[in-house]
Amino acid sequence: MSNSNKKLLITTALPYANGSIHLGHILEHIQADIFVRFQRMLGRDVTFVCADDQHGSPIMIKAQQLGKTPEEMIAEVEQEHQRDFAGFGISYDNYYRTNSPENQEISNFIYNNLKDKGYIQVRKISQLFDPEKQMFLPDRFVKGTCPKCKAQDQYGDNCEVCGATYSPTELINPYSSISGATPVLKESEHYFFDLPKFQEFLKDWVKNDTIPTEMVNKLQEWFESGLQQWDISRDAPYFGFKIPGTENKYFYVWLDAPVGYLASFKNYFDKKGIDFASMMNKDANTELCHFIGKDILYFHSLFWPAVLHGVDLKTPDKIFVHGYVTVNGAKMSKSKGTFIKASTYLKHFNPECLRYYYAAKMNGKIDDLDLNLEDFVAKVNSDIVNKLVNLASRTAGFITKLFNGKLASNIGEDELFKKFLDKKASIEESYNKREFSKVIREVMALADEANRYVDEKAPWVMAKDESLREELQKVCTASLNLYRILISYMLPILPELAKKSADFLNIELTWDSIEKQLLDTEIKPFKALFARIDMKTVEAMQQDSLKDLAAQKPSKE
Ligand code: MSP
Ligand code: ZN
Repeated sequence: MSNSNKKLLITTALPYANGSIHLGHILEHIQADIFVRFQRMLGRDVTFVCADDQHGSPIMIKAQQLGKTPEEMIAEVEQEHQRDFAGFGISYDNYYRTNSPENQEISNFIYNNLKDKGYIQVRKISQLFDPEKQMFLPDRFVKGTCPKCKAQDQYGDNCEVCGATYSPTELINPYSSISGATPVLKESEHYFFDLPKFQEFLKDWVKNDTIPTEMVNKLQEWFESGLQQWDISRDAPYFGFKIPGTENKYFYVWLDAPVGYLASFKNYFDKKGIDFASMMNKDANTELCHFIGKDILYFHSLFWPAVLHGVDLKTPDKIFVHGYVTVNGAKMSKSKGTFIKASTYLKHFNPECLRYYYAAKMNGKIDDLDLNLEDFVAKVNSDIVNKLVNLASRTAGFITKLFNGKLASNIGEDELFKKFLDKKASIEESYNKREFSKVIREVMALADEANRYVDEKAPWVMAKDESLREELQKVCTASLNLYRILISYMLPILPELAKKSADFLNIELTWDSIEKQLLDTEIKPFKALFARIDMKTVEAMQQDSLKDLAAQKPSKE
C-alpha cells in the first residue's frame, strides 16, 4: 500500500439479494479478507465492509415468483449471505444493506447535488413494455429469435448460439419472459447522468495507479469510443428508491448499489461515534479500496468515480480486480454438480481448505482461477497437513511427555532461524501486492527446510537415549519455534489454524513478535490441528450440489 498512515476503507462488491453465495463469489471475499487481516496484523486502521445489493427488477421479479414481498425475500437472503461469509471467516466490521435509510439519504444527496450542478439531464426514450404486466422490460427479460442466426429463445441483448449482440428491439418475434406477451414500444421520460463531462477527470484518475495496469488499455478504448450519458432512472413498478421530485421514477439499481458502500461505512461509523464526513471528504486521510470482479469494472472505473467527483466526495484510490472462478477447468455448471453453494461446501469441508487453495493461486492479476477439485484435495493434504502442521505434531508430543510441557531455554541454530526471519520483508511485500501465491511458495519452501532439519535430528531416535534429553528438548523447541514463525506468516490466510496454534503454544501471534523466540515456557498438550481431506467428501459435496439444483424451483438461470 502506498501510504501507511492512511486509514483503510475496504469493500467487496455487494452480492445481489436474489441468489445464494457460491464458490465463485467467495473468491473475492477471501481475497479481501486475507488482505485486511494482514493490514490489521501490521497495526493499520482498517474498516472492512460489505452489504447486500437489494434493489432492481430481477429481485422484484424473483420475489414475485416465490410469492413473497421483496422485503421478505431480501431479509431472508441477507441472513443467509451473512451466515455464509461468517462461515468462511470473512472478518467484516459491518455487513449492511442497500435498502436502508442511510443509503436512501446518501443517494438522494448525491442525486440532488448532481442535479444542482447541472449533471442530470431529462429526455424521453422508447423501450419495450410488457402490456400484460404493465411494466418496462429490462433487456434480459425480453426473449426472441436471433436476428442474425435465427436461433430461437435468445436473450434481448445477445445470442448464446452465434454470439451476436443487438438491441432487444431487433429480436424477431420478441416475447416477455415474465408473461409471454408480445412487448410493445412505449415512450417515457428518463434521467441521465452526464458522464461525458467527466472524461478529462477520469483520464487523470486512471493515471494514479487506481486500476490494474492490464485494464488501463480497456479504459482507453472506452474513452476513444466516447462516453455515453448514463440512464439512472427506471419506471414503476420497480423495487428501489423513488427519485426525489418525481412521481413514479426510481433510481436504477446501479446508481444506489455503490452508494451502498458508503451507507455501510456510515452505518458503522455512526455506531462507533466516528464522523462519516471526515472519512469521505475529498481531502480525508483515508484510502478507499474496492475489491471487484472483472465483469463490473465499467461501473467502478467510470460511473462511480465520476459520481463521487461530481459531488466533491473522495474518489476510489484503488480498484483491485480479480478474474472468474472455474471448476475443473470449466464454467461452474449446475448439471455437473460444480455450481457449489458456499453453504454446501461448508457442510463438507473446513473453510480454511478453500482459503488456502484460492490463496495459493492468487497472484494479484485478473486471470481466471481454476478450482480443480483433485488438486484441491492433494494440495491441502500435502501442504497444510504433511508439511506445515506436521512440524508441530511430530515434535510437540515429546515436550508434553518428557518435559512436562516445558520448552528449552535456548536452542542455538542461529543460521536456520535467520533464514526464516529473513523472509519476513518479502512476505510482507507479497501480502501488500496481493500476491498470496508467493507468500505460500515461500512458506512451504521454509516448511520443507524445517522438516528436513527435524528429519536429520530424528528426535524419535534421540528419545530412546536418556543421555540426550537436553538435546532432544532443544530440537523440539526449535521445531516448534519454526512452526510458530510459519503459522504467523500464514495467519491472514489460515486464521483458525493460527488461533488453535496460538492456543496450544500459549501465546498471541503478532507480526511484531515473530522474531521473539518462545523459550523456557510451558505449552499445552498438542491436539490434532488440521484434518486430512479426501475425494469421497468432494463427491458427496457434488452430489449435494445436484440435490440443491433439483430442489430449486425452475428458473431461467
Ligand atoms: N450487485 C453487483 C455488484 C454491486 S457493487 C456496488 C454484482 N453482484 S454479483 O452478486 O453478481 O457479483 C458480486 C461479485 O462476485 C462481483 O465482483 C463478481 O465479479 C463476483 N463474482 C460472481 N461470480 C463470480 C465467479 N464465478 N468468479 C469470481 N467472481 C465472481 O455484480
Ligand atoms: Zn444468433
